Amino acid sequence: MSEWLDRVYCEDALQGMARIEDASVDLIIADPPYGLGKDYGNDSDKLDTQAYLAWMEQWVDIALPKLKANGSLYIFLTWRYSPEVFVMLKQRMMMVNEIIWDRRVPSMGGSTRRYSSVHDTVGFFAKSKDYYFDLDAVRIPYDEQTKKARTRSIFVGAKWLEMGYNPKDVWSVSRLHREHRERADHPTQKPLEIIERMIKASCPSGGMVLDPFMGSGTTAVAARRCGRHFTGFELNPTYCEMIQRRLAELPAEPTAPEAVS
Ligand SMILES: C[S@@+](CC[C@H](N)C(=O)[O-])C[C@H]1O[C@@H](n2cnc3c(N)ncnc32)[C@H](O)[C@@H]1O
Repeated sequence: MSEWLDRVYCEDALQGMARIEDASVDLIIADPPYGLGKDYGNDSDKLDTQAYLAWMEQWVDIALPKLKANGSLYIFLTWRYSPEVFVMLKQRMMMVNEIIWDRRVPSMGGSTRRYSSVHDTVGFFAKSKDYYFDLDAVRIPYDEQTKKARTRSIFVGAKWLEMGYNPKDVWSVSRLHREHRERADHPTQKPLEIIERMIKASCPSGGMVLDPFMGSGTTAVAARRCGRHFTGFELNPTYCEMIQRRLAELPAEPTAPEAVS
């Protein structure tokens, strides 16, 4: 497995993943093209519905054997194809959560013949019921005001008050607008805050995260910041360079990231 450690291969994930050893990966974070015709400098998001769903099934069947028995998968989707993809995945894995990523899109006009869509649908699936999950690593600290309001004796020493509450399945995290300090030049770059939560909860320290569709390399950056290994693929050579740049800007040692809210 060492040849895969902390590497991003500029190639088609379907070919590349086939070479990874089975049962060697703790966590897969997959952010595939959405099937909405986005421009990634290639034709990867230009498939019609039938071809798109067939392609999704194809890469899933290559990726899943790479997971360890207690491994899990997060997959970013939108409402358009999450129903079909969830059904397909439920035939292969245990569904743990549907997470709604509220992108905190500001209210400015929007759709006029439907409700404006402002969220991503994220599926969280596990290979077995004994999946790895470290809740304490992703607890959200209470603010001082809330802690103060819970000073009655029944709350003293309460673990949840000290350690924070467990994240819910709606994650409200701003998308990366043009001026955002994290922003790289990629149309669907995900915030580190989201990917780091997934990694801390679902991959043990020193474990391996596989991202078949690296884009700007958010998973690679997040894994390094969290002290995990990564491996992955990206078709577009310009994005591959972007990933190397983002990694090179990181300090050599993992930085313990702050807790997310
Ligand atoms: C939704 S974006 C991923 C964004 C990424 N999560 C980030 O935060 O930057 C999907 C990426 O998958 C890449 N891609 C599409 N088909 C691919 C394939 N068969 N193998 C590898 N990469 C692919 C696209 O070029 C695009 O950059």
